[in-house]
Amino acid sequence: MRSINKIILALGSVVLLSSSIQANEVKTGANLYKKCAACHGVNAEKHALGQSAVLNVMEEEDIVAALSGYQEGTYGRGMKVLMKNQVSALDVEEIKVLSAYIVTLKP
Ligand code: HEC
Repeated sequence: MRSINKIILALGSVVLLSSSIQANEVKTGANLYKKCAACHGVNAEKHALGQSAVLNVMEEEDIVAALSGYQEGTYGRGMKVLMKNQVSALDVEEIKVLSAYIVTLKP
């Protein structure tokens, strides 16, 4: 009986471990950026919908400021509501991770 309990315990830890690894993976910059690429380009090299600045030449702190500003409604131009929808679900940490990733795409 004891060894069966140990096996069950071990299996439980494996499941827990793999689900926390998955949760971390979702938060990497590359993963968070996937849905942005449709408009901003895989290398953040495009003017999204002909409207945005090119992101891969922006400074990291300016990207952070823009993303939090879109969330709060304090940043943006004619299409800021569109961007607000894109970033509304991100937390502070995710905004940092995402911005740090975008600057690695500098040409
Ligand atoms: C459906 C197309 C679309 C998607 C998807 C999208 N964006 Fe945008 N993005 C835009 C547009 C259009 C603008 C310009 C909005 C405005 O008028 O302020 C913009 C602006 C920005 C800006 C500010 C640049 C500037 O011009 O001041 C940043 C930073 C940004 N987006 C990052 C992101 C990130 C990060 C994601 C993914 C979480 C994302 N965007 C997803 C279309 C998109």
